[in-house]
Amino acid sequence: MTHVDLSGLLIGAATAAVQIEGGDTGNQWHEFAQVPGRIVDGSTPTPATDHWTRWREDTDLLAELNLGIYRLGLEWSRIEPEPGRVDQSAVDRYREELTELGRRGIRPLVTIHHFSHPTWFEDRGGWTAPDAVETFLAHVERVVTRFGDLVSEWVTINEPNVYASSGFLFGEFPPGHTGGWTEIRRVLNAMARGHCRAYHLIHDLQPDAKVGIAHHLRVFAPLNGRNPVHRLLARTNAYLFQEAITDAMLGGRFPRVLGAQPADVTPGTHYDYLGINYYSRSAVSRLADGRFDGVSVNDLGWEIHPQGLVEVARWLHGRFPGPIWVTENGTADRDDAFRARFIADHLTAMVSSGLPFERYYHWCLVDNWEWAQGYTARFGLVELDVDTMERRVRPSGRFLARAVAAGGIGDALYEEFVAGHDYPTTP
Ligand code: FCB
Repeated sequence: MTHVDLSGLLIGAATAAVQIEGGDTGNQWHEFAQVPGRIVDGSTPTPATDHWTRWREDTDLLAELNLGIYRLGLEWSRIEPEPGRVDQSAVDRYREELTELGRRGIRPLVTIHHFSHPTWFEDRGGWTAPDAVETFLAHVERVVTRFGDLVSEWVTINEPNVYASSGFLFGEFPPGHTGGWTEIRRVLNAMARGHCRAYHLIHDLQPDAKVGIAHHLRVFAPLNGRNPVHRLLARTNAYLFQEAITDAMLGGRFPRVLGAQPADVTPGTHYDYLGINYYSRSAVSRLADGRFDGVSVNDLGWEIHPQGLVEVARWLHGRFPGPIWVTENGTADRDDAFRARFIADHLTAMVSSGLPFERYYHWCLVDNWEWAQGYTARFGLVELDVDTMERRVRPSGRFLARAVAAGGIGDALYEEFVAGHDYPTTP
């Protein structure tokens, strides 16, 4: 069956401030990227996609692609370049963009913390500092009071599990530590506490707000399903990487492994939607990522496993009922050889699941600066020429635009963009 009805779904794109804006040297990624060897192509987040000056063009692209919802980040280090000092020109610039989105009928979902923050915050210890939560909450209040007339939907924190493991275990994100569990626990405890407190703070300021997190969820499958060690490790990885933190962030209930229950967090509902960032599945045979042989993969070697989105959503929804927003889903595909199929397969899995999926934010709009991958990983519906900053809509972007306009993927659209475009596979 190739016809997919998308009329019940809002569809848009997702981005993050440091990955697109350029020109900001006050965030910790800018400093981190100066050290040779940390970013695969030696690039830094300046100029990223130069969105800071080209935002009108990118807003036009959203409209051109018929995308009615848009997830974007506000960069903390621009708004508060020094502790306690607000840069009004940055606030004005963001307000201009948000106003224009509203004028175009594009609903913004704003991320408050997406892997980046001011260097001054990082230098104090970032999320490991004793006053990290209070500092973050002051920022949340600042943002909501300055933008609350233009924004009512918020992601407090993006992917705490990826932030903590990449920055404090694998050394791939700032601060580049490989120390392990003590720091990770402190970071996750602080982020969960920060989110739970922010959830209430935002609702106090804006009773009708919709508040949640963008949670990175993967499928962890035993490499060999008959091997009990693989099965046990798959369970352990899932628990440590994504399940324990789910209970803390969404349920306000801190499992032992994340340290003590904070005195200022009461167990209860701490979300208005279930935000899921879904990309891939891991095949587990040890306490690290692995991959099955003979599976579909993207340019980064990540397995493409559309049904996994339904699997993780079913798990999450079973534990915490609520509307599901796919806050990120996309793929690295430099040649745009299979992105339309990737989109079609994930949307098909979603709408045939019977789960209450309400929204789909494709990662991402324009090829961006992919953290430690620099410019090498191409996730955009729109291609970026890094030398000229020129944007060109990819066929997959046109495909998504037409699917949105038609309210579904009909046979003709499928034939034109998806049929015959198969995924690459591993040996
Ligand atoms: C997610 C991040 C996002 C982007 C995609 C590819 O983990 O939230 O910023 O890098 O992966």
